[in-house]
Amino acid sequence: MPDHAELRLGDASYELPVVVGTEQERAIDITNLRSATGHITLDSGYKNTGATTSAITYLDGEAGILRYRGYPIEQLAEKSNFLEVAHLLIYGELPTKEAMDRFSHEISEHTLIHEDMKGFYNSFPTYAHPMGVVASVTTSLSTFYPESLNPHRSEDKINLTIKRLIAKFPTMAAWAFKNSIGHPAVYPKNKLGYVENFLHMMFALPTDDYEIDPVVVNAMDKLLILHADHEQNCSTSTVRLAGSSQANLYASISAGIVALWGPLHGGANQAVIEMLDRIREDGGSIDKWIERAKDKNDPFRLMGFGHRVYKNFDPRAKIIKKACDDLLNKLGMKDPVLDIAKKLEEVALNDPYFVERKLYPNVDFYSGIMYRAMGIPQDMFTVMFALGRLPGWIAQWKEMVANKEPIGRPRQVYIGPNERNYVNIADR
Ligand code: SDX
Repeated sequence: MPDHAELRLGDASYELPVVVGTEQERAIDITNLRSATGHITLDSGYKNTGATTSAITYLDGEAGILRYRGYPIEQLAEKSNFLEVAHLLIYGELPTKEAMDRFSHEISEHTLIHEDMKGFYNSFPTYAHPMGVVASVTTSLSTFYPESLNPHRSEDKINLTIKRLIAKFPTMAAWAFKNSIGHPAVYPKNKLGYVENFLHMMFALPTDDYEIDPVVVNAMDKLLILHADHEQNCSTSTVRLAGSSQANLYASISAGIVALWGPLHGGANQAVIEMLDRIREDGGSIDKWIERAKDKNDPFRLMGFGHRVYKNFDPRAKIIKKACDDLLNKLGMKDPVLDIAKKLEEVALNDPYFVERKLYPNVDFYSGIMYRAMGIPQDMFTVMFALGRLPGWIAQWKEMVANKEPIGRPRQVYIGPNERNYVNIADR
């Protein structure tokens, strides 16, 4: 394969270098395109544009491959745990037992949030969507920890800022839920593991202990691993863009949270359950809804289906589908929408419209059924996605800062009015 591309513009010809990644991905480097040719490229939605080089996550959309720092997602989901995967993503290596114990202990020391932050929760209406609460409270961490404001502090300061966020996010998320149901906040118990502590803060009551079910813990831990990173998706690109202005970590992560909220992105897991419930209430007629999803004049889309990168299958969806079956069987639960989801998948995967467009179930298609089985309320589903994606966002922000990447500032092609003179209002 050539080590450069040739661009012809009229009589002129330009050579553009080709960058090759460790998995033989190839990119035409246009860093100097505008200065050399006076032209920019145009690529709505960045479908063909690489924003950076990264050593964190590799995915191959055609082959359905997803690896964190080289480790296949299937192995990590089967053998690792979420905090260990967080260490792998952020620091680049699987930790030794000693390093893991230290990492886990240090995180357990920062699970409390400043007592003054309770005032924020009391100020939100009970109907506030937890994503809006969590995004706001995450940014507010930078006001309580001013040493976090400078992303170029010492490694120790950056690691303390990172550990505070990983430790406090479950507390902030659980308190958003408690606030939404008018229940008192439950404080973390540091003798509990990371996922156990989150479940404790979500479901324990002053009137009643919450019995932690290891089946639920294992299922949630696996889901968090599967959501932990996904290279340059919408929310991660938002974190990197915000951080490229040298905004602090907490503010950059908050930008990622709000980008994730949209139903085309992380909000899809909530939209999938709402869609499945709507189909169930409508009598469960799969064909009618499949036809609606195909109708260009109908805004209805099959939520949880399709992906910008995966054009064969989303490896996470395969794992989650099996984990969903296992969880419901172990809990002795039946969820009528699971049968509808499986039927939808079967019908869609045999329908030319979906086959031609390479639309398959994505990470969000079955995850909501698992969250519901664990007792997580629907409007907390995307908060769960954010909890899982947190270490990936942190790792990507840390890589961008360490690489001293320039502030992100895309160009545009202007299509508005040409120059014209001001007209006084009396003359218009
Ligand atoms: C996530 O990027 C990531 O990595 C994201 C993520 C991560 O881990 O960070 O994987 C998480 O966001 C998963 C995606 C969750 N979103 C949904 O499930 C929402 C439903 N899916 C679609 O909106 C859509 O598939 C997207 C947004 C996921 C991808 O959109 P693209 O890549 O811009 O593709 P497109 O919209 O151009 O669709 C191509 C064609 C179009 O039809 P034509 O105009 O060619 O005739 O496929 C159709 C679309 O109308 N299409 C769908 C569809 N998704 C695409 N038709 C019906 N139902 C759908 N779900």
